[in-house]
Amino acid sequence: VEDLGEADLKGKTVLIRCDLNVPLNADLEITDDTRITASIPTIEYLCSKGAKVLACSHLGRPKDGPEEKFSLKPVAKKMGELMKKDIKCAPDCKATDEVKGMVSAMSEGDVLILENTRFYKGETKNDPELAESMASLADLFVNDAFGTAHRAHSSTEGVTKFLKPSVSGFLLKKELDYLKGAVDSPVKPMAAIVGGAKVSTKIPVIESMLEKVDKVIIGGGMVFTFLKARGLSVGNSLVEDDLIPVVKKLEEQAKAKGVEIILPSDIACGDEFPAGGKEVNYKVVPADDIPDGWLGLDNGPKATEEIKAALADCKTVIWNGPMGVFESPQFSKGTYDVAECIAELTEKNGAISIIGGGDSVSAVNKSGLAPKMSHISTGGGASLELLEGKVLPGVAALDEKEMAAAAFCG
Ligand code: 3PG
Repeated sequence: VEDLGEADLKGKTVLIRCDLNVPLNADLEITDDTRITASIPTIEYLCSKGAKVLACSHLGRPKDGPEEKFSLKPVAKKMGELMKKDIKCAPDCKATDEVKGMVSAMSEGDVLILENTRFYKGETKNDPELAESMASLADLFVNDAFGTAHRAHSSTEGVTKFLKPSVSGFLLKKELDYLKGAVDSPVKPMAAIVGGAKVSTKIPVIESMLEKVDKVIIGGGMVFTFLKARGLSVGNSLVEDDLIPVVKKLEEQAKAKGVEIILPSDIACGDEFPAGGKEVNYKVVPADDIPDGWLGLDNGPKATEEIKAALADCKTVIWNGPMGVFESPQFSKGTYDVAECIAELTEKNGAISIIGGGDSVSAVNKSGLAPKMSHISTGGGASLELLEGKVLPGVAALDEKEMAAAAFCG
């Protein structure tokens, strides 16, 4: 990151926007610290150059101001443990007298986490007054929050109006490099594996991927809208009926472009939805023969073999969304099998693998296969919007050389 490397950081106070929006359990313990770990290299670099680092982020979607369950205190504690530093959480993200006092007490190389930016309603409205207040605490701005780069909020976009320079951090740059590489100059053949419950959230990305990829492998709940659109009966499976014409059109577009759309040929079904992971009656059936009273909840074993065969010659694989109701142990196999196929392809064939989206990333993390993948994105919505070809406002707002990185998004 040229700009960040060149910036004179010694003694400067740097406001860094990270995506520290991590999952917490009922005891407010962090259940996955991927985003914290991913934010550390830039923070460590800033500290090593003698900067005072103010890290800010949102956590969750608080509706009515400050709430303990959305506090960044557990994040500050975790980051302190990981960086072996004493890291405090300020009571606010605005420049109150107390926060200003904490900042002026900092020494070079210190890190302070500012409290949840979404404790102010102005954050999501990109309120300039909130942005100006946060900016007044620092000398320059680094955006390293790829996961929130698709939001034009006070702490992602607004602050860049008040702090010069505003540059990207290492994580943001790395995410853009991988995803830009896959979108702009793909190493072919390339496959996209698109899963998840709802086809409505994935149509734009599938449409845009048709321009780039050789194969689209469909998994998860959205399979059944595709199967129904092909005239097959799907029992009690989830279907978005209003999208059947859209899916039919998508299939025609794919055919015209010579892109293969691959659906599973067998399905693991349950006689009811496994709410809360409870055990239900289970059977595997051919995808064209899902009986009434049963619903499709995961890929069957043949489907996994087909995915493996389809990926065998691929040099790039992008995966977003699970293959089934992965939170239920009975219906998680399809997702874990796909993670294994991709890991093997990366390791043995030297393919580039890019994993995005909360559930697929968590499956890869849980399976211990993460180190084998080329890139695991910290962005769910952000990576989808990027692959759809949308401008990411958090990136577009950055200065000079970083604009070149933003240009490809548009
Ligand atoms: C995410 O988890 O995708 C990012 O942190 C953005 O969160 P949001 O969808 O609440 O804006």
